[in-house]
This record gives sequence, C-alpha cells and structure tokens, in this order.
Amino acid sequence: MPASVDGPIGLFDSGVGGLTVARALADRLPGERLLYFGDTAHLPYGDKSPEAIRGYSLAIAQHLVDLGAKAIVVACNSASSVAYDALVAAMDVPVFNVIDPVVAEVARLGVDSVGIWGTKATVKSGVFPAKLAVSAPHARVQAWATPLLVPVIEENILDGPILEAVVDGYAGPTEAAHVDALVLACTHYPIVAKQIGARMGPDVALLSTPQIVAEHVARQLGELKLLRSTAAPSMPHQFVVSDYTPAFEAIAQQFFGEAISLREDHLWA
Ligand code: DGL
Repeated sequence: MPASVDGPIGLFDSGVGGLTVARALADRLPGERLLYFGDTAHLPYGDKSPEAIRGYSLAIAQHLVDLGAKAIVVACNSASSVAYDALVAAMDVPVFNVIDPVVAEVARLGVDSVGIWGTKATVKSGVFPAKLAVSAPHARVQAWATPLLVPVIEENILDGPILEAVVDGYAGPTEAAHVDALVLACTHYPIVAKQIGARMGPDVALLSTPQIVAEHVARQLGELKLLRSTAAPSMPHQFVVSDYTPAFEAIAQQFFGEAISLREDHLWA
C-alpha cells in the first residue's frame, strides 16, 4: 500500500536521544505529525551487537509503517551505523539516516581535523571515518566512544557535577588531539551540547546534527512530494515507548510541552 501524504513521519531511537531530531523536524516542518518510538526496553543500543540493533530497528520500523508512517527517520547514530542498509532494503517507505547529512556538512565546511563522539556501536562500525574518507578525504578523522553520556542523559541529569565529570573525562583526549570540529554523533548528546561546548571551548565547532538532519529530511520529503500543505498537524504528535519510564516522559515534555501523547507498545511481549 503506498504511503499517504497525510501519514506521520516515523522516527525511532533507543530512548530520548532522537527527540533532538524530532524537535528540529517539528520546527522545520510545522505542518507534519510525528510518530516517535523510543526503544527504552533495549536501551542503550551502543553496547549491543550489530545483529541485535538491526533486529530491533527492523521490528520498530515495520511497526511505525503499520501505524501509517510515510517515511522513517533513523534518529539514532548506532542504528544508522549498522541497520540502515537493511532498513532501506526491507521498508516500502523512504528511510533516512542521521549520518549522511552530517558527513556532507563536514565536507562542505572543509575542516582539517574532525573529532567524532559516539557510542561504542557507532565508533566500532567505522562508518564515519569510512564515509568521510570519501567525502572529505583531506580531513583527519578521529573517533572516540563516549558511552557514559547516554545513561546520564536518560537519567535527566542535564547539568551539575556528574555530567561535568563525564564530559571532562571524555574531553581530555579530544582536546589533546586539537580538532577543529566535533561531531556529536549520538542523538542524545545535543541535549547537553551547551555543557560539551563550554568544556571544549570556542576553537572547536560543534556540529548541530539535529538541524542538519531535519533540513535534509525536509528537502528530500519535499522532492518526493510527501509533505502536507497545512500549517499545523491534524493530530498531536504521538510518542511510543517499549517500556514506560518517568524520565522519558519528563524529557519528552521538556521538548514538546506538557500535553504529550505517550503510550507503551510491547513489540517484544
Ligand atoms: N541515541 C543513540 C545514538 O545516536 C543511541 C544511544 C544508545 O542507546 O546507546 O547512537
């Protein structure tokens, strides 16, 4: 069945991280309804095997399509790193990852040296260095796994000494490597971009991945004639989790206001 233009844009992540992309997309496309799935039952993805992440991703994307999604945004770098090709092959709707638009932006900026902060799954996949070797062959690329940021953010610890200690511990090696730009290659990290930016200092440009991805998705959906022409969505955005947590609800409310519509769907009951 062809996807309806009136259907929502589906997004998924392991937890709250993809809300950064969802927020940027809602700002860029105010007429669109979003259908967001946070796979809180399997969080964090960054520690899982590629096979496990692929399995979760395929099940969630199919669920979103069954619920009417007209496109899927893989709002997770870990899943984009290891599951994107499988998703494109399996889904009947357009699928977008959060890596290609960011790689294109790094190439466009022409930086000499770029650092990547991501989960263990993303860094282990080698996808950023591989893609940047093609798109920005002159840039020196160094990637660091910075997984502890994810549970800290999921705990809704968005400032204070615990976050500062984690950021500080990861900033040291990056500082020593003298990068010009730092890609926050995990969709959770932009939630604490201010703290990371303050620690790295003004000489390191932080790439705002949610905005870059939202711009790319908006343009592509426009070209595919999959955008609604209205100024506001017909129904509120829908948030779904695989395991309810108060922290998810609290952070989603911070991003989208008090009255979010949240429910639990048990894909793995
Ligand atoms: N937000 C995700 C990412 O972009 C996943 C983090 C995790 O669950 O480990 O990689």
